[in-house]
Amino acid sequence: MTQADVYEITRQDTYPGAYPSGWYHVLDADALRPGDVRELRALGKHLVAFRGRESGVVSVLDAHCLHQGANLAGGDVQGDCIRCPFHNWSFAGDGCLRSIPGLDKVPRARLRSYPVREHYGMLWMYHDVTGEVAEPPYEPPALPDIDDGTLRPRGTYAPRDARMHICEFIENSVDFQHFAHLHSELTIPWTQIKIPGFGVHYEPGWELDPELEHVAYFLTYAYLVFRGRHYRKSGASVRVTLLGPGSTVWFRFTLPELGDIVMFQTHLPTAPLNQRVRFRWYADRRIPRPLVWYVVGHWISQWRADVEIWENKIMRPRPVLVSLDGPVHKMRRWVKQFYEPAPAA
Ligand code: FES
Ligand SMILES: [Fe+2]
Repeated sequence: MTQADVYEITRQDTYPGAYPSGWYHVLDADALRPGDVRELRALGKHLVAFRGRESGVVSVLDAHCLHQGANLAGGDVQGDCIRCPFHNWSFAGDGCLRSIPGLDKVPRARLRSYPVREHYGMLWMYHDVTGEVAEPPYEPPALPDIDDGTLRPRGTYAPRDARMHICEFIENSVDFQHFAHLHSELTIPWTQIKIPGFGVHYEPGWELDPELEHVAYFLTYAYLVFRGRHYRKSGASVRVTLLGPGSTVWFRFTLPELGDIVMFQTHLPTAPLNQRVRFRWYADRRIPRPLVWYVVGHWISQWRADVEIWENKIMRPRPVLVSLDGPVHKMRRWVKQFYEPAPAA
């Protein structure tokens, strides 16, 4: 074991469980056409996803066959069933064993199959903290202004994986102090290159949804500062909806007179300290392309600055807090719900 491995294990030991309950963006919808099969190694599981040829419906099952444990990801799709590559047993999308070549009557047997939803070009799977199948207590996002075409798809971004724990994104949302230090300088969008003289000022806030217990919000108004002078009118309001344990979040940037940009940011833990991160954004058609590039790119620059910290930090269960910090304890009490098992399906 190398010194780097020891460091990562030491970091890992300071965090809560790596795979809290929530909706996880496991694949892009266009990565799975009818008849396609994909292997998924994430959330401490070994899974297989496939899209039925007839129904077009996507299913996610435990990857290893109930017979002799072959990996179904090496199989193929027949109708709406997946066929094992070893002895050609077929399983339906709900995991039920459907057919065995040369046998009329098949035993009653069922692979674990997980809830899946397809929306906004993404495939989400519900994972329960126990690792068992559970009834999802809520649904993935539904945004009327995307559904009705007011906001149109404008781009996606797939960075390298981040060597961080999933809880860091939510922890970051209540860390009000770091905006004045880590995020206060304006950079060229998408980069860490600072623009001399320019800065950004944030007015952060954090609140729980009054009705939906699995939803919290990070809110800020961000505007430009030039050589110490504050230009409040240059700003835009940002509302980040945190759905569950940070697995799925979305930003709503409201640009006065122009409309909104909505950007999804999703995290999929493929190991306790490794997140696959994906971005996908939509914008009002009135917002010109360079402005969308600037707004999204500004966030990506700030996110990169956070990642450098996240990839090297530990979690303090009892941090020393001062009045400049946000509601850390309130947030941690809220997150606890995603570590409690849901009723089995
Ligand atoms: S191992 Fe899958 S059919 Fe035998
Ligand atoms: Fe941050």
